Amino acid sequence: MLEGESLLDAVLRNRADAPYACKGGVCGTCRAFLVSGEVRMDRNFALEPEEVESGYVLACQSHPVTERVELDFDR
Ligand code: FES
Repeated sequence: MLEGESLLDAVLRNRADAPYACKGGVCGTCRAFLVSGEVRMDRNFALEPEEVESGYVLACQSHPVTERVELDFDR
């Protein structure tokens, strides 16, 4: 991880096919399930409160809070 970068950008450096469109927290294309760890989201205009409660995050807005974070884009 580089300082200040989003989880999406970190993933894209290794996996060019990670899903995204707006990178602004609006479209929801980067929605991923947080399998383990904790993240902080800058903005969220896409996910419903229920989705957040169920463990979904927007990768383009997420920054890791824990040392290890595991995301699942296919869930
Ligand atoms: S890419 Fe649009 S919300 Fe993340």
